[in-house]
Amino acid sequence: MPRVLVADYDYPDLDLEQALFRRQGIEMAAAQCRSPAEVIRAAQGCCGILLQYAPVTEEVVAALPGLGIVSRYGAGYDTVDTQACERHGVWVANSPDYGVGEVATHALALALAVARNIVAYHRDITASQRWHYLSSGPLRRPREMTLGIVGLGRIGKRMAQISRDVFKRVIAYDPYLIDGDFPAFVERAGSLAALAQAADVVSLHTPLTAETRGMIGDAFFAALRKGSYLVNTARGAVVDVEACLRALDAGILAGAGLDVLPAEPVPPESPLTRHPRVVLTPHAAFYSAEAELELRRKAAQNVATWIATGRPEYVVTRGTRTP
Ligand code: NAI
Repeated sequence: MPRVLVADYDYPDLDLEQALFRRQGIEMAAAQCRSPAEVIRAAQGCCGILLQYAPVTEEVVAALPGLGIVSRYGAGYDTVDTQACERHGVWVANSPDYGVGEVATHALALALAVARNIVAYHRDITASQRWHYLSSGPLRRPREMTLGIVGLGRIGKRMAQISRDVFKRVIAYDPYLIDGDFPAFVERAGSLAALAQAADVVSLHTPLTAETRGMIGDAFFAALRKGSYLVNTARGAVVDVEACLRALDAGILAGAGLDVLPAEPVPPESPLTRHPRVVLTPHAAFYSAEAELELRRKAAQNVATWIATGRPEYVVTRGTRTP
């Protein structure tokens, strides 16, 4: 009987996965692996790995000759060394389309929370009994603002659609898209600096890659106009947090809404947790009860389909290993 490992998960249970695999005659094991060594130990005898954040490195794929597929719960797959998987013939799959609406809606919610001072107002009322529309300072009219989207893929495009009536203009920077893939109402920014110069609200929707890691740093903030807002629902390490704090303290950023951080959960001593103009959410942008079920079903089905046919539904990199 083929055996599959769920290498880490923060769901309350794995009933859905268990039932799906049982129906297809697949045995399932579960662990909470944080290191490559833990993955190697737990995945002995397994032909597939399902994972949330557990690391799948060169060392892992090299140590597991029976492993044929790695399937990620989610769209991003930056904890998986896809090149190493490709070299060793291991298929990599993901579940890219379960929560596009959730993430875009969350990004817009964060953008509005910071631009409308929602959390600060609430804090002023509940902590200081201050009930005044000016308690958190002046606000600008959203309809006069430009939204700048970095990464105009599935989520970035949806963000553009649902935000177009809120803001005056929507512009986007995505060097990998041809003009024809830009919706007609989205203007193209030729460079990241051009986007920074034009945008009042910047929302990040790129994957985390060698190129995007730290991309939103001092140089980006230097190009931004004073009083802008930043929203990150992509990956924490796309933003240089120290540079972001400097931009907040210099007034370049009037607020930041961050769903993702380089280290999650955020360390309690981080200045981000106390900053009056930072709104944090716990990597929750993907979440709705419906999206979570869809995500888990699609990620598990990738493995079951590969076991049945030799190919998963959602291919990130093609492998050569067979079930
Ligand atoms: P996608 O692959 O459809 O779109 C990503 C876009 O970023 C592509 O159009 C690509 O050309 C562009 N891009 C790549 N490098 C770039 C660069 N250097 N500068 C500008 N643009 C660049 O991915 P999708 O589905 O839209 O997801 C985006 C990211 O959102 C995922 O990679 C994932 O990390 C993150 N995510 C976060 C979630 C959360 O709960 N916070 C949930 C789901 C996804």
